[in-house]
Amino acid sequence: LLLLGLIVPARAQQPDTTTVTSSVEELSAEIAALKAKTSTWDKVLAALPEIFLAGLQALSPQDMAGLRVMVTLGPTREAWDGVRFWSNPSSGLMGSALAVCAWLRGAEVTAICGPGVSAFLPRGVQRHDVTNAHGMYEAARGLWPDMDMGMFTAAVADFSPAPLGERKFKKSEAPDGFSLDFRPNPDILHNLAAVRRPGQKVLGFAAETAPDMDALLPLARAKLARKKADLLAANRVNAVGSGFGTPTNSVAVADARGREEIWPSQSKADVAWELCTWLLRI
Ligand code: C5P
Repeated sequence: LLLLGLIVPARAQQPDTTTVTSSVEELSAEIAALKAKTSTWDKVLAALPEIFLAGLQALSPQDMAGLRVMVTLGPTREAWDGVRFWSNPSSGLMGSALAVCAWLRGAEVTAICGPGVSAFLPRGVQRHDVTNAHGMYEAARGLWPDMDMGMFTAAVADFSPAPLGERKFKKSEAPDGFSLDFRPNPDILHNLAAVRRPGQKVLGFAAETAPDMDALLPLARAKLARKKADLLAANRVNAVGSGFGTPTNSVAVADARGREEIWPSQSKADVAWELCTWLLRI
């Protein structure tokens, strides 16, 4: 939130005095309304992020107003017995940064969150919680026809283990170890990009292990084509300060018109802001 607080005023068009006055008025009104509603100062403190965001929203360009944006974020968990699962360490931070940026810029945002996503989402963002890849696909498929943009940041498990049963699998059942069969999961981005109507825009991500940023760009280009996305951001998951769970990201970006860029490591909020701007222009 603090990062966004620094970024948004810098990115907003020079606020004129009317914008500043009205944002201050909106903030004062929010605080007054909260004071009236809550009996303790603790409750006001708990609401500070929302008050802060209301101020940021008032300062942001409303260039995504009227757009309906769906964001998938976080990991998925694929159960292989009654209590254990196959997953990855995605935090959902990149997706929450995109959801917050789109919301600040006036979009109506729906977030489909994998399990364990604790990244901040404003109350104005509609949140759907899902557990596994099939659940995420069903939720996204149902919402997609009504959306203008899809931002697919979730680290969806590409495969699910065929479950060994509903109960906890016992160590004594496999004294020499055991194997699991994995079945492919639906590729949400690929399937929804394939059925998009004209005007619907698709942003995809790629988590890649690459030796350097130059090697990342061809991977972004290849995934853009394979997934039929409009814009694809590949990030290095094997570099310090980039990838799963970090507040910053190093990305190589490619779009379907052939424009390509490599961005230096920057905050995920900054990456999200730039990606929203790029998506609006294609
Ligand atoms: O093929 P890969 O997993 O590298 O592709 C990454 C991109 O595809 C991300 O945008 C991710 O959210 C999306 N994806 C998906 N469904 C899957 C696998 C990936 O939407 N089953």
